[in-house]
Parts: sequence; C-alpha cells; structure tokens
Amino acid sequence: MRYINKKLTIEKISLQKIAKKYGTPFYSYSYSKLKDNINNFKKNFKSFSPLICFAVKSNTNVNIIREIKKFGLGADVVSIGELMMALKAGINPNKIVFSGVGKTSNEISFAIDKNILLINAESLSEIKEINKVAKSKNKKIRVGVRLNPNTDAKTLSQISTGKKENKFGVNKNTFNEIIKYSKNSKNIDLKCLSVHIGSQILDHKPYEKMLEAVSQILNKVRYKFEFIDLGGGMGISYSDKNKKLNYKKYNSAILKFLKRHKVKIIFEPGRSIIGDTGTLVSKVIYIKDSGRKKFIILDAAMNDLMRPALYGAIHRTLPVTKSNIRSKKPYEFVGPICESTDKFITLKKFQVLKEKDLVAICDVGAYGMSLSSNYNLRTKPIELLIKESKVKVIRKRQKHKDLI
Ligand code: LLP
Repeated sequence: MRYINKKLTIEKISLQKIAKKYGTPFYSYSYSKLKDNINNFKKNFKSFSPLICFAVKSNTNVNIIREIKKFGLGADVVSIGELMMALKAGINPNKIVFSGVGKTSNEISFAIDKNILLINAESLSEIKEINKVAKSKNKKIRVGVRLNPNTDAKTLSQISTGKKENKFGVNKNTFNEIIKYSKNSKNIDLKCLSVHIGSQILDHKPYEKMLEAVSQILNKVRYKFEFIDLGGGMGISYSDKNKKLNYKKYNSAILKFLKRHKVKIIFEPGRSIIGDTGTLVSKVIYIKDSGRKKFIILDAAMNDLMRPALYGAIHRTLPVTKSNIRSKKPYEFVGPICESTDKFITLKKFQVLKEKDLVAICDVGAYGMSLSSNYNLRTKPIELLIKESKVKVIRKRQKHKDLI
C-alpha cells in the first residue's frame, strides 16, 4: 500500500474508490503481497523444502485458502470446521495436519475418513481416543504428538504456547509414555513430533532453544520420526519499531538440527503468510471532543477486529486521503460498541479528520476477520481480494436477515 496523489492505494486501486463501490467497513487483501509472502517463505527455507501448512485459523476465507493452495501449500487445521473449509478449498488431504488440545471423537472420526496426513495429538487421552476410533474402523492412523518444550517464545503472554504452564502439548514423561503406547498399538502409526511455542515471534533465539529441546529429547527416546512439525509463529512488523525475525538464523538452526536428525520438516505459518496483506477500511461516523482528546467514532468496531481489545495489539492506522494539517489534540479511534475496550488506537498529531473521512487499519489479514463476531448484533464486513486494479468479492457483507 502506498499513497499515489495523496490517495492510499492498494495495488493499483485507491481505497476510496473501493469504499465508494462496496461501502464500509471492508476488509481488503492484496494478492501480490500474498504471492510475495509465500514465495519469500519458500525461499527462506528452500534448502530443505519443508511442507508448508497454512494455519487456517489465521484466515478462514475459502477464496483466500484457494489462492494459497495454488502455491502448493497444505493446511494446519484445529477443528472439524476448519478441516471442512480446507477440503472445500481443494487442499490435498495428504497435506493437512490437525492440531488442537480438544479434538472430539467425532472430529477424529471425520479426519480419519478423510485420510489426512497427520492428527497431531496433545495428550495421552487423545492418543487413546484416536486408537479407539481407528480400531473401530480397522485402520492404522498416522499421528503426531505435540511436545511442550517449555520454551519461552518471548512474545505476548496471551499468545505464548510453549511453556509448561500453557495447556498445549505434553511434557517429556507423557511423551515417553505415548511412544510406548504407540509401539504397542496396531492402530497408531506415530510419525511426527510437533511443537509450536507461540505466535508473533520476532527473535530467532526461542526457536533455537526449541530446536535444542527437541534434539535432546530425540536423542533420548531413540524413536525414528518421519516428520518434525515446527509449527508457525513467525512474527511480522506491526509498527516501524518492531524488529524483524532473522529467517537466516532460524534456517541455519534448522539445518544444524537436520544434520543430526534425518527428518522431513513441516511448518504451520499463518500470520507471516496473510497478516500484512489485509487492511480494514472504516468511515468516521462522528467526532466527539472530550476536552483533552477527540474520539474518532468509526463504523468498524471490536467485533470486526478484536486484536486491540483482546491483546492490546497495535495496528498502524492511516488516513485514506492524505493532508498536511495536524490535529492539536490526540485522536482516540473507537468503534460504536458498548464496551470501553472497543478502542483501536490513540494517536497524537494525526492529520485533521472530518466526519465521513476514511481510515485504514493495517496488517489485519491474520486473526482479523477470523476472530470477528456478531457482538451487539453487528453484521460482519465484506471481504475483497485485490489483484492490480481488479476487485473480487470473496465474502459478501453479512445482512441482518442472516442474523435475525
Ligand atoms: N500452529 C499452531 C498449533 C498454532 O496454535 C498456531 C497459532 C499456528 C500454527 C499459527 O501461528 P502463526 O504463524 O499465525 O503465528 N489470535 C492471536 C494469535 C493466536 C495464534 C494461535 N495459534 C493474534 O491475533 O495474535
């Protein structure tokens, strides 16, 4: 995105023009950015050609998943719904991994029937449940086991998953028990060790520690895994202050690991593929002066984009039409929802805005629409895919008649 003649432009079309045709709020995604992200991700790890499974939870739009599939990616899913969506988008079942701490026997049964690559289990009870369902179908099922490596991802505590106080994965003792159990089972084919220590990781060192922890446990258990699934978590730059993840160092750490362990690597990236492709465009409904600051009341709210309310996440917020006049008072960008946390960001010296002006909230492609809700009985926004100057509706705006 950049300003052309003071108009914020995505690929070859101005956001203002899109707003005029499709109304606000809307989510737009840049196809060329998506293509670049996928190609860069592949390039970063090309020396060992990993299987890249897109984390569907980050963006569940079937048309987005379809585009991602065209680049040969698989999918990481965490519910029967996501699995159905990945299949609907045409992802090859042989490239689908199923993660999550609470898969029901119904979900396990569906995954077995679809013959997906791996069910990544997160407890001994789950392994036993998979065994039971597989036995009833007289099948041997490829499974993974998610290890909790007790590694600090050095990210927000709410999105950290690899420490022992987090509910994810199993500890070393249970890991050993699961190996023993699988060796004695005719229906479990234990093929993968998986880890995922958290999301929005910008420092390569936690990844190095995670690989070291995995390496140590592999040396101890002496069990031959075909796959090591390293999860996702690669962070993106939400603000100019964010440092960038050093992919070269992460890649070198993996190459070092692969010298000791001959396995195939799986990744489950979400945010790094789709995060910075997405923009939420919203219109100013009212401006309210409260003395020390001004509230910019937008037509988008926390139901459309939860990340600021849920994690205190910061998203770059830009005027859709640029001017040089700065506001003297800070602007607090809020939505119409009846919650004080329905607030996006407070900015000093933003350019002066008027009612009906448009603003763009950036880098919302991951965990934006997928976390949206109908709170306050608000309809979900329209989603658009932008390719050069073409706009494709990839999900219609919800209507009140869909809800009431
Ligand atoms: N694999 C597993 C097992 C996961 O739990 C996750 C994310 C991913 C892969 C993908 O992680 P990514 O590459 O996107 O970081 N709603 C939060 C993020 C929650 C992430 C949950 N798990 C947010 O808006 O920041």
